[in-house]
Amino acid sequence: MKTVFLGGMALLVLWQSDVQAASVDNGRHVFEGNCAVCHGTPPDNLIRPKVMIAADNPNAIRNAFNIQPQMSFLNGAFTDSELRDIAKYLAKPTTTDSDRLFDWGQATYPELLSGAPLAGTALGYYYRYYPITNVFVGTQNRDVFFYDPSQPGDPLNLGSMDSFLLLAEPAGY
Ligand code: HEC
Repeated sequence: MKTVFLGGMALLVLWQSDVQAASVDNGRHVFEGNCAVCHGTPPDNLIRPKVMIAADNPNAIRNAFNIQPQMSFLNGAFTDSELRDIAKYLAKPTTTDSDRLFDWGQATYPELLSGAPLAGTALGYYYRYYPITNVFVGTQNRDVFFYDPSQPGDPLNLGSMDSFLLLAEPAGY
């Protein structure tokens, strides 16, 4: 089963596209640097709850720049991709891109990534370990890794987080 999983993953590495999935990590970064001063972190606070209408809706942010005088100075300050990332962050303020991918992986490959995983960080990786199947998935420097400690060799680099997010995002992650 592990071999089948890796075969599927290898195909995904060949995935090439100019399309980018939205990143909650970058959305959090941009929000904390530009919006949190007025909207707080986490953003679904009681002070200005209307910010949440922009969850998964970048147009609501563009609209806010036009209708909120206090925000007009931000008009034109962000790329389309940054606005998409902020909107994704507002939709999922408590998660990370790594966790989105791990959650998607568990739903997509339940035979391999099943049971209650143990999350942790080590050697620059953020990982989840699955005790039942004795495998790790992890991320480091925005790449995705797979590690089976029963096999010789280093963790296998499966490709960039962004290529996997392109698959996870349409599936609702
Ligand atoms: C200088 C303060 C300030 C900053 C910075 C700011 N906002 Fe706002 N924002 C406001 C105020 C004031 C409102 C109106 C009060 C409310 O709607 O809760 C508002 C409302 C909004 C709304 C709701 C608009 C509507 O349709 O009613 C959204 C969405 C929003 N902000 C997103 C953002 C995002 C994203 C950023 C960062 C890129 C940001 N804001 C930065 C002050 C700010």
